[in-house]
Amino acid sequence: MDKEATLEIIRKEVAGDVEKKDQWQDAPIAVIRGCNTQSAKTLLDQDLTIRYFPFHIGRGGDTKTFMSEPDLSLEEHPPYRLSRLHLVLERRERGIFLVDPLSRYGSIVNNNRLGERIGGPKEMPLASGEYEVRLGGATSPFVYSIAVKADEEVNAVQEQVRYGDHTVPVSLLYGRLYQQTQRIFARFFKDGLDSLGMAREMLQAILANPDIIEPLYYFSAIPDTGDDVIATHSLNVAIYSIRLARQVPVAGNDLLTFALAAFFHDIGLYDLPPDIINKKEMVTAQEYELIKTHSLSGKTKLEAISGMNALIPVVALEHHERVDGYGYPKGSKAVSQQAEMIAMVDFFEALTHYRPQRGPVTPHEGIRTLIQQQRGIFSPPMVKLFIRGFSLFPVYSIVRLNTGETGQVVDTNPDRPLRPTVRIFFDRNGNMLDEERKIDLVDNNCIYISKDISDRVFVDRYFKL
Ligand SMILES: [Fe+2]
Ligand SMILES: [Fe+2]
Repeated sequence: MDKEATLEIIRKEVAGDVEKKDQWQDAPIAVIRGCNTQSAKTLLDQDLTIRYFPFHIGRGGDTKTFMSEPDLSLEEHPPYRLSRLHLVLERRERGIFLVDPLSRYGSIVNNNRLGERIGGPKEMPLASGEYEVRLGGATSPFVYSIAVKADEEVNAVQEQVRYGDHTVPVSLLYGRLYQQTQRIFARFFKDGLDSLGMAREMLQAILANPDIIEPLYYFSAIPDTGDDVIATHSLNVAIYSIRLARQVPVAGNDLLTFALAAFFHDIGLYDLPPDIINKKEMVTAQEYELIKTHSLSGKTKLEAISGMNALIPVVALEHHERVDGYGYPKGSKAVSQQAEMIAMVDFFEALTHYRPQRGPVTPHEGIRTLIQQQRGIFSPPMVKLFIRGFSLFPVYSIVRLNTGETGQVVDTNPDRPLRPTVRIFFDRNGNMLDEERKIDLVDNNCIYISKDISDRVFVDRYFKL
């Protein structure tokens, strides 16, 4: 679905003449799934939806060079049927193309050879439909199905960001950070010190380049959650915390330690059975008791790592404590400031993202819930700081102005949480504007937000504008 169509739906919603139930389904461009061969299945047992192109598939698995890995990185052992860069999915004006840059064993696509080194063409167009793709030639076990769906969705215009020596679209950087987060957590249970070093390196690289923090924050605010809920959540909480700490003084003078504390706050969750983490129904009282053990178990594991800064296990232990004494595990009212701040970020991130058992709320609703429903459980000065950091109308909120115009919040002002910058879509009569116009409400004192009209059903669409 393109931007115009999305705006049209929002216009209808604003006018109140749209039926909200399942108005649309995502129309992904390509979906890759593992076929029935054992090795393919173990490598990719969930559908992988590809929205951003070009998408690289190849042999990978080197944790030290995670930024240079293919997008779908398949681990393989000798005698290597896959090349480091084996196949590329490209989107061009005429549709999706499968390109073999120069792999050694080529691929078989629906019984046709692909790849010049096995006597096939270098590339082939994929019309809508389902394809069987055998990477690495006729005898390879790497069999996938690639479904190409209607090209309704445009390639979102994305900010390019720099990370180390690489300049990449922000979605790609986020994807890499997510994969690296999973590797860091897997490593944690084998060698805590090494895992801490990897995390430090990753977060340090983010901190060293302040320009990428806003784009990363915007991207991580998209309510989607990866297959690994804990990894997505931990990475997001780290990004949100870094972003918050750059806006308002919450981190003390060691931002890296604060970011690490946010990153590892839920490490204890990995001790729980995945069934509980991924459960689609509400957890039972018994399961909840089990979940509550993650604070202490995380703290204990973090503490055992030599040279660990004390704040990191403290945050793991205290991030579910509340100043009213009704938190866990101790019911302590004395919560360290940094733990409380990360607890608020934790709460806000969780509420505004998909979880297996529920959908997300909009950012504005998230902030409101934090202020209203949770009154007393966080200390007022900290709530104030939090609002300064994220604004009452966080980025992505869809708002109506007193002028009758409708738009989306695209930037916030720490000193004026009610006065963000709004990009206007519709004039007061509901007509779509031809030219993009932004209003910084700080500079326009007579204009204010009269209503937040974000809606949970539409939340996904808003994010893609
Ligand atoms: Fe937690
Ligand atoms: Fe958490």
